[in-house]
Amino acid sequence: MNRIEGRVKVTGLATYAAEYPIESVAYAYPVQSLVAKGRVVRVHDAEAREMPGVLAVLSCADPPRLAEDADPELALFQSGDVAYRGQIVAAVVADTYENARAAAAAVRVEYDPDDHDVTLRTGHPGFYRPDVVNPNYPADTVKGDVEAGLAGAAVSVDVTYSTPVLHNNPMEPHAAMAVWDPEGRLLVYDSTQGASPDRDTIAQTLGLPREDVRVVSRHVGGGFGSKGSTRPHAVLAALAARAAGRPVKIALTRHQMFDVTGYRTPTIQRLRLGADAGGRLTAVEHLAYEQTSTLVEFAEQTATPARVMYATPALRTAHRLVRLDVATPSWMRAPGECPGMYALESAMDELACALGMDPVELRVVNDADAEPESGLPFSSRNLVLCLREGARRFGWRDRDPEPGVRREGEWLVGTGVAASTYPARRRPATAFAFVRDDDYVVQVAAADIGTGARTALTRIAAETLGVAPGRVHLELGDSDLPDAPVAGGSMGTSSWGSAVVRACEELKEDGKEGRADTTDEIKGDAKLARHAFGAQFAEVRVSSVTGEIRVPRLLGVFAAGRIVDGKLARSQFIGGMTMGLGMALMEETLTDEEFGGFLRRDLAQYHVPACADVPHVEAVWLDEQDGELNPMGSKGIGEIGIVGTAAAIGNAVHHATGHRVRELPITPGSIL
Ligand code: MOS
Repeated sequence: MNRIEGRVKVTGLATYAAEYPIESVAYAYPVQSLVAKGRVVRVHDAEAREMPGVLAVLSCADPPRLAEDADPELALFQSGDVAYRGQIVAAVVADTYENARAAAAAVRVEYDPDDHDVTLRTGHPGFYRPDVVNPNYPADTVKGDVEAGLAGAAVSVDVTYSTPVLHNNPMEPHAAMAVWDPEGRLLVYDSTQGASPDRDTIAQTLGLPREDVRVVSRHVGGGFGSKGSTRPHAVLAALAARAAGRPVKIALTRHQMFDVTGYRTPTIQRLRLGADAGGRLTAVEHLAYEQTSTLVEFAEQTATPARVMYATPALRTAHRLVRLDVATPSWMRAPGECPGMYALESAMDELACALGMDPVELRVVNDADAEPESGLPFSSRNLVLCLREGARRFGWRDRDPEPGVRREGEWLVGTGVAASTYPARRRPATAFAFVRDDDYVVQVAAADIGTGARTALTRIAAETLGVAPGRVHLELGDSDLPDAPVAGGSMGTSSWGSAVVRACEELKEDGKEGRADTTDEIKGDAKLARHAFGAQFAEVRVSSVTGEIRVPRLLGVFAAGRIVDGKLARSQFIGGMTMGLGMALMEETLTDEEFGGFLRRDLAQYHVPACADVPHVEAVWLDEQDGELNPMGSKGIGEIGIVGTAAAIGNAVHHATGHRVRELPITPGSIL
């Protein structure tokens, strides 16, 4: 099936948040803090107020009323305290974008600055143990005796890796347009991964009943997590529209996005692994150090994949956080699993080298019958099949394990492997299906963030109803539709699809309509370990002259339950793998230690892979049957593609060059 909205997208007819034609719309432009920590003493805005077209200036000098329990990242202008450089401290509303921008530049904010600390570093005195890590896991776990396991090991490794600040860069920058009606109801066109939760957060922040807020987001140009929670621009649009007495649009620039739409925390990760002479793990310890802000505790679940991956008698995982004068980190594709598996799977490769063992075989002999930490049985686990199938397709059998010996002219050639995993969960959702004329309408407040959710849900509905997909009209992207969870955590299709199936089943029986709420169904799910698994294979070529690293081949083999739509799934897998390649070799946001905030705040400096960087990315999947998941038997595919890719590439760089780089990204400078 082709994407239902494909034609409107490629012909420019699909309407994104900033593009709705609204009469007499005004524009808001934020003023951002120039200090990383301190207080706003005064806002000098007299000059700005006199500039052409200016309708209002917002700041803490005259705080708009917001809920007292608003998320501190969204509580705009409520206090003069500055928690990070780039925080929104004022905003100008004007009749045109240019006038708003010019007047915002004329607003002068006087600060009383404090010393700041923005640097995550080993041994920071501020590290503490959070109560839980996202979404709700224990921060630390211990099983067995790690020290004894390491002491008794034939071979062990003790290695530390670091990953940098990373930023999501969806094609569509964050934007919102707010329209108040005369009765005080608010309509927000927002670029969001979830109309229902965005509506709830906006209503809660503004102190409105949720019935008085509607969020519309029919098309979203990517999010990857950065649009998974309400961002301050949406609240700002609502406040600005109220202040100006007109609809207001705000479209963040890419520079502004780097400051206020979240980022992946940097990590420092220490891995200690021990194994017997046959490669069987005797101990695994994974310690993760990461940052959060002074405003909100965001605890990335970096060490959690070690609780899932390998059988071992001794397993310890721990997370430590430090509060820095930075924006609060947020979600980025496979939060936790992605940086955590980079470190774990790199360490597994180092262990394989130390053992003189093939890295595929090392993973196979340590496969787990039950989830290592919890002891729960897996609903299905086909990691070994993914590794074997990948090895066969990639031509792994003839691989010479010796690092740094294959040379083609100036190029050193190597291959690497890593495993991947991602949880397969679902959340409660509701849906409504009814007959209209001779066709079927299915409504669910899902979000299509470029994943093809519309198309996948149409297929699911059509299959349930037993009709051609062309007879199903799927409506999503509007909080007035039946409530649905966010497009995140690889749970979209599983959550919304469950509700769509139940609504369509009821419609079939009733003949006219069907309504579903999966809350009770999900409560009845058996307690099992549900995860998707995969194997990533990479070939790299490293120039011995310039240190340039090319990746001529990436192969991912995934076991992710039933694949609802092959074309969409392939796109998700190779998209994730491409993003993983960016993480391995290019992506890095530098923190400005002197002034706070971030350096490299645009696509000229924050590099992501282009087509020429990914000549051959192949994703395949096993036909995995798992009856313990949901009516579709699907596991979710949005995030597993990025997990493990960076480790596979890093391991291949070691195989090519004999040089082990433990800091991402791996650049020419880190090799030469
Ligand atoms: Mo994704 S980081 O779960 O939106």
